[in-house]
Amino acid sequence: MDSLRVEGGARLAGTVDISGSKNAVLPMLCATILAPGEYTLGNVPLLRDVTTLSSLLRTLGIRTHREGHTLRVDSTGVVPNEAHYDLVRTMRASVYVLGPLLARFGHARVSLPGGCAWGPRPIDLHLKAMEALGAAVRLDHGTIDASGAPLIGTRIDFPISSVGATGNAVMAAVLAEGKTVLGNAAREPEISSLCEFLVAMGARIDGIGSGVLEIEGVAELHPADAVVIPDRIEAGTYLVAAALTGGDVTVRGARSDHLEATLAALRSAGVEFEERGGEIVVRGGGEISPLRVETEPYPGFPTDMQAQLMTLLLFGRGKSEIVENIFPDRFKHVPELNRMGGSIRVEGKSAFIRGVGALTGAPVMASDLRASAALVLAGLIASGTTRISRVYHIDRGYERIEEKLAGLGGRIWRVRRS
Ligand code: UD1
Repeated sequence: MDSLRVEGGARLAGTVDISGSKNAVLPMLCATILAPGEYTLGNVPLLRDVTTLSSLLRTLGIRTHREGHTLRVDSTGVVPNEAHYDLVRTMRASVYVLGPLLARFGHARVSLPGGCAWGPRPIDLHLKAMEALGAAVRLDHGTIDASGAPLIGTRIDFPISSVGATGNAVMAAVLAEGKTVLGNAAREPEISSLCEFLVAMGARIDGIGSGVLEIEGVAELHPADAVVIPDRIEAGTYLVAAALTGGDVTVRGARSDHLEATLAALRSAGVEFEERGGEIVVRGGGEISPLRVETEPYPGFPTDMQAQLMTLLLFGRGKSEIVENIFPDRFKHVPELNRMGGSIRVEGKSAFIRGVGALTGAPVMASDLRASAALVLAGLIASGTTRISRVYHIDRGYERIEEKLAGLGGRIWRVRRS
């Protein structure tokens, strides 16, 4: 298993280019089930999750061909095979095939994903949405079996805002008979970009970007080409890296309108930056002030930036609190950060952080994608060497992180294990 070795203390400087969004491209790839044919997707990030989903789509008869950051998808031969556990368990987003398979073929079998590193992650809202659209859903030896044709448009009010359930419901509703209204729909940019892709495929969706999506079902869709939006979480991670190391870094290709809550938190923490047309220029080095931040659905502060913000606050002075409202158990990075000299106490869904101003390198273990990012950030400012094991987590969602950081002057290397 590969690991990352980081020597702390280097000040980052230069320009880093942001890759396409992982959470945007995954549902878009699944949407190609809805209309057989050829698609070209641009700005596709080179990530393990994209490779995993491509493998799953191959089992459904969909071929993908990569040329750099362009992915050609041919769904001409799509068939409603079962999405098996061996792939679904490695990536929960695989459940995004449920809505499109059901809408297109009237039947879908998808292995039920298990929990994840930060606790149970139910998909009951996905299943209830399919039922509301008229499907019969049952659990068959660990596999979701859903059938119903045609799906019938309806009103669904989500009790909590869910990115995945909204995406799945939209992809099911676009081919349903009549109108579907989704209340308390997720407003994340990745959902809006999925809706825009579906509209380019011929879907009729109103209210994109709002909490109410109105979908008028159509008889059929057609292939379309698209360019994947930039990854706001990757951008936020590099902004924190720059702030932490006192760097002078230009984050290029990010969408600051997707980053408002992250930028507001950084500004409150005293980080200085300038936004200018597609670039965010950070001038780190100032004192980091303590904060109280709660994670919330978009446009609130994203749970996917919580671990990285924690490293930043740890490196500052004073007492901070982060309340994790989305995934209350998502604190697996805390004991690892504490091993590096951090002072973080978790009580319920709150993490209380005492700024220690300095960290020490240590061997640490990545437990999930964003937790590993927080450890890399900590390694960049810790004294001595930090060795991060289980780095496959970070490869799921950060394209060539060690190359990008090394390009900014960070001292970071991948240690390959055969
Ligand atoms: C997506 C993102 C993930 C991000 C999360 C929250 C992808 C591939 N992943 O995950 O990176 O951290 O949004 O922004 O886009 N819930 C239920 N029942 C359900 C579904 C969700 O109770 O059926 C709950 C979850 O436990 C959580 C909340 O709803 O408390 C939000 O989760 P959700 O938005 O669905 O997260 P994902 O789509 O899994």
